[in-house]
Amino acid sequence: MSKFINIVLVTFLLIWIVGCKNSRNKLAVTSPSKNIDVGFFVNDEGSANYFVKYRGALIIDTSDMGFDFLNQAPLKKGLKIIDIKTNSVDEDWEMQWGEQRIVNNHYNEMIIKLEESMAPNRKLNIYFRAYNDGIGFRYEFPEQEGVDSVIIVDENTQFKLTGNHTCWWIPGDWDIYEHLYHTTKFSEIDALAARNQQWLAQSHIPENAVNTPVTMRIEYGLHLSFHEANLTDYAGMTLKVDKENLSMISELVGSDRLGYKVKRALPFSTPWRTIQISEEASDLIESNLIVNLNEPNKLGDVSWFKPKKYVGIWWEMHIGISSWDLKSGRHGATTENAKKYIDFAANNNISGVLVEGWNTGWEHWIGFEDREGIFDFVTPYPDYDIAAVVDYASEKGVEIIMHHETSGAPITYEQQLDTAYALMKSLGIHSVKTGYVGPIIPKGEYHHGQWMVVHYRKVVETGAKYKVAINAHEPIKATGIRRTYPNAISREGLRGQEFNAWASDGGNPPEHLSIVAFTRMLAGPIDFTPGVFDIKLKTKENNQVNTTLAHQLALYVVIYSPIQMACDLPKNYEGNPAFQFIRDVGVDWEQTTVLNGEVGDFVTIARQEKETENWFVGSITDENEREIHINFDFLDPGKEYKAIIYKDGADAHWKDNPISYEIEKTILTSKIERSFLLAAGGGLAISLEVKK
Ligand code: NOJ
Ligand code: CA
Repeated sequence: MSKFINIVLVTFLLIWIVGCKNSRNKLAVTSPSKNIDVGFFVNDEGSANYFVKYRGALIIDTSDMGFDFLNQAPLKKGLKIIDIKTNSVDEDWEMQWGEQRIVNNHYNEMIIKLEESMAPNRKLNIYFRAYNDGIGFRYEFPEQEGVDSVIIVDENTQFKLTGNHTCWWIPGDWDIYEHLYHTTKFSEIDALAARNQQWLAQSHIPENAVNTPVTMRIEYGLHLSFHEANLTDYAGMTLKVDKENLSMISELVGSDRLGYKVKRALPFSTPWRTIQISEEASDLIESNLIVNLNEPNKLGDVSWFKPKKYVGIWWEMHIGISSWDLKSGRHGATTENAKKYIDFAANNNISGVLVEGWNTGWEHWIGFEDREGIFDFVTPYPDYDIAAVVDYASEKGVEIIMHHETSGAPITYEQQLDTAYALMKSLGIHSVKTGYVGPIIPKGEYHHGQWMVVHYRKVVETGAKYKVAINAHEPIKATGIRRTYPNAISREGLRGQEFNAWASDGGNPPEHLSIVAFTRMLAGPIDFTPGVFDIKLKTKENNQVNTTLAHQLALYVVIYSPIQMACDLPKNYEGNPAFQFIRDVGVDWEQTTVLNGEVGDFVTIARQEKETENWFVGSITDENEREIHINFDFLDPGKEYKAIIYKDGADAHWKDNPISYEIEKTILTSKIERSFLLAAGGGLAISLEVKK
């Protein structure tokens, strides 16, 4: 990797903007492109303030910063600047697996050291980084005399908007991100209306706040997306909505049990507060800001995990055909059933099989108050011979994906972590899907608080020790730690496909993923589990998937994850020519280019597979049919490509005729430009194989 690293450390001149209102100097750091400025000043009261400009226009108005503590006075006023440092970095680094192999990390940085003018003279440092695709800043509590730890009850970082922007948001739930996105003006955000959704096993929305990433469009077209990077040993951040001042303020997820938000010994740094900034919506998806604001790979060689497509004993439970629970009389995870999925995977270029409901405990899963000690992560049900299944799979070149549903009882899970992961190691299993359904035990903790952030990280670190990669459901949000821990391969953390199987609100609307691509996906890989072919769900009278079949295919390219499920039942794929796309599509990418898109309307993404150099294109639309124009100039000009185009049939419609599709085979080159019609709720998927 080191050969790609070329760090340029130069000191550059700070811009001193003189003549401002309060006659104090303002400091600024500018992006390498010179488009983005982050300004900083300490006002007359000694409060720290920042603002952000894009091409000279204010996009974050003067916003203040500060902390409230349980064990000491607030840190907010009476600060003075004692030192300023700057530096610049321009380096390339290599991702183990990702949307692209080589990532450029190019920024200018300004580090402000602050100290209280009066006793106790506490110190706080703020790091500001200006990138071409946005900004990040974080607080550092340096080692100092008289303060050895802090107990934070509030971080008060303000994001003062410059208008009543259009926002794509989910409520600031402390327990789950599985909400539908809303599209409203900032002043119309009403998170409290999302309380009490009966299909959520856990939910806690204490006030009118949003979760991140939250994406906005300013009236004149600029896009902003607010999030955080490197969430380590700290509480997750929601953003409280202050409609009157058109402003958001960080609201950390708390703990009713402990009565504070964060407890840390000094020195430590907070996560980065980030704003991705782009003129085109499509550039938000190409931004690498979040991974760039994380530490380099700590694990070294992780080639024991291979990006993969997988099938599994899963969708059949969600559509009511089988169950996790042995006593149900329709137990899904039997040796025999697992072998069927293994055969199907082996015959179809799919190298993973997930088996849920294999271990004891499921009869006490949902709705049980006392979930501690229920699940056992090493003991299979009697009708599941785990060793035989693993052997059968490995003979066929397939690897089993382990499943651990913790049912929101992390203490039980931590007690068994080592034995459970040692079992996986002995069986040669290199990935696990974890789950955290239900309110967290102990009571008073929430999924996104510091206590759980620490737990999720412990799982990732323990996984690394045993060469196990983690795909967490009901996770903490993705904040780019996959750079540091590449075994944090994927996660849920959104309303996934499963809601289409049982949510009584009609499931995910056709626009869902054309919002997700510009919001949740900016955080990192998503285990969405695409690929439903039986769109109308024969076994579920009142549910269906609200897209066309071609849209389902497109998701293998649009949604990034180094593991992608083909979630439907094998029998729904067998004999269907469209399944060829799922067989062919890559999961490990050399590069990605976002060809077009508008938040909530449509998006078209092209990804080039590592090693084969084949390209795949996916395009999806919302409930509106539309024509998508594709310029194939991203293809290698010296090559011809055998293209298979999977498109909506002329009469396709997500509701009335979702499985109507057409396949066209042709040769495409970089000189071609073509338009395609996407049906309402429709999509387009293209495989482009290099012609030898
Ligand atoms: C919720 C997960 O999202 C889902 O995929 C899984 O099947 C259930 N929990 C059971 O663990
Ligand atoms: Ca879930």
